[in-house]
Amino acid sequence: MGFEQAWLSYGVLRKESKWRGIERICADPASPVMKNAVGELQKALGTMTGKEPVLCSGADKEAAGTRCIRFRQDGEGKADGYHVYEESGDVVIAASSDCGMLYGAFELIRQAQIGNSPVGLDIAKDPVMPLRMLNHWDNMDGSIERGYSGNSFFFDHDEILVDDRTVTYARLLASVGINGAVINNVNVKDAATWLITDRYFDKLRQLSEIFAGYGIRLFLSLNYAAPVELGELDSADPLSEEVGKWWKDRMKLVFEQVPHLGGFLIKADSEGRPGPFTYGRTHADGANMLAEAVEPYGGLIIWRCFVYNCKQDWRDYKTDRARSGYDNFIELDGAFRDNVILQIKNGPMDFQVREPVHPLFGGLKDTNQMLEVQIAQEYTGQQRHVCYLIPMFQEVLGFRTYVTETDDTVKDLVSGKTFGHTKCGMAAVANTGNDENWTGHDLAAANLYGFGRLAFDPSALAEEIAREWVVRTFGEDEEVCEVLLFILMNSWRAYEMYNAPLGIGWMVNPNYHYGPSVDGYEYDRWGTYHRADHLGIGVDRSHHGTGYAGLYREPNASMYDSPESCPDELLLFFHHMPYDHKLQSGKTVIQHIYDTHFEGVELVDEMVKRFESLEGKIPDKAYRRMLDRFRHQKEHAREWRDQINTYFYRKSGMDDEKGRQIF
Ligand code: GCU
Repeated sequence: MGFEQAWLSYGVLRKESKWRGIERICADPASPVMKNAVGELQKALGTMTGKEPVLCSGADKEAAGTRCIRFRQDGEGKADGYHVYEESGDVVIAASSDCGMLYGAFELIRQAQIGNSPVGLDIAKDPVMPLRMLNHWDNMDGSIERGYSGNSFFFDHDEILVDDRTVTYARLLASVGINGAVINNVNVKDAATWLITDRYFDKLRQLSEIFAGYGIRLFLSLNYAAPVELGELDSADPLSEEVGKWWKDRMKLVFEQVPHLGGFLIKADSEGRPGPFTYGRTHADGANMLAEAVEPYGGLIIWRCFVYNCKQDWRDYKTDRARSGYDNFIELDGAFRDNVILQIKNGPMDFQVREPVHPLFGGLKDTNQMLEVQIAQEYTGQQRHVCYLIPMFQEVLGFRTYVTETDDTVKDLVSGKTFGHTKCGMAAVANTGNDENWTGHDLAAANLYGFGRLAFDPSALAEEIAREWVVRTFGEDEEVCEVLLFILMNSWRAYEMYNAPLGIGWMVNPNYHYGPSVDGYEYDRWGTYHRADHLGIGVDRSHHGTGYAGLYREPNASMYDSPESCPDELLLFFHHMPYDHKLQSGKTVIQHIYDTHFEGVELVDEMVKRFESLEGKIPDKAYRRMLDRFRHQKEHAREWRDQINTYFYRKSGMDDEKGRQIF
């Protein structure tokens, strides 16, 4: 089995499989996307059946009397949607766009891989979110910010790489419906600032053409201060005419040279990156200036809301990092041009194992919005621990904001249903690198796969997605499937159990964010505190404290504001509570901390035990690679358990009811 192809490594179908009878593909592929649709089907069915279907012209379909796959233009269909169905023994892919045809082709491949028959096939799907994007934090020297699977396959030594892996990457993305990719880090420095100059146009064009052939638009992260840093102007003031003109000229050149480009992602006035604040201007001023420059080319400006004071004094109880995204952007609702999208992280802090949903969702009404999640497991085990995140994303998407009476969930907002927006969707910070298996931990690929599937169809269940990914990656063996599903579906819960308790987050080593350090971020400038003392722990974000709970619409605001109604798993995010406070579960805070940390480790032990039963049932190389990581996870979960339990035992002086060993 080739690991380079991830879930597109095709096994041989059973003898009785009805896909074996499909001997022809009737099509006249003219566009690159159609050629890829046909090529993918030929390659997949060829490998799965041992006999590559012959391509013949659409006009010949009556010819040989054998069964075929046909394409049908469907004027009614939604862009990029498809309908695949059986018709008199043939399989038809109907769609209104080439991209829909490609997605239909990948749907057939999926059906074949998971063991479904073409007989009686009838599946119609439209992508629910318009934009389904990956954000790579790849640097041009080849390193990856928060990368846990090797180096970049887009960049090396300040050059852009275009090779076989680029094509496989595009195929993998298209196969799960991802239609956009930002290839460079949001922290745009050094050579990356030059991506919008002729130094890189040729390679960018090649890359964007490969992407376009798979329905993917190439995006770049932009340096807000580019006119200054490229040495051409001495200001980047968004209201200066000269600056506006510079960007218009620049964008004209960029889009002439790289016509498939989709637009730009911008991190401004955040963690030291430049932005409009330098000139006393707003984020709307900055975003709108760029939006005007890319507008003639259909370009989008995706502007991040991850803006906060990263030089806070830990003694300051008034400033609340959780509030900052909301406070910086809410007043600007309605002030952005139509081709600007605000990209909002799922929670108000930074991709912790548990956070409430960002209050800008449900706050903003007149602004295009996109949800940003992180499948790079920065705070969730860095792809050494297994942590299947799709269940978490599903919770976020299902959250009711009450911005309207109905259709008010995050999913409704970012799919455009609530306010009829068409420029919206979901982005994931990518977890890929040049490791052979793409994601370091073989099981981390389930997050890449799952993200695409979820953005295309958020009604798909996390468990179904996981099952499908397992079968497509490791084949149909029932035992393999059951064990890996048990592991994946318990992994987020297990990680949360031995991690920071009850929504408080952080407790990691500064900078590299791995491993337990309860006070690692406690006396620092990043706005990330747990405020534990001998009596209690948690941040008071109620109306007595920072008032953050009040940023939600009712009834969420009241629910979070009171410790009685605040869900247990977020209690310490919203409230400072004594250790003997009784949770809704009936346990005290301190006993909850002890219990979850012991039980989290037991759950990991169970996962590893079951995994070990798979020796010989999955390819040895993958087995060994995973076993190594599982052994580390087992050890490391103990480190988390013991450091956290010990810390709170020493702080509180309270014994564990069950008398287990705490140091
Ligand atoms: C986190 C992460 C950074 C990243 C930042 C962002 O803080 O640790 O590496 O740059 O998020 O999202 O911009």
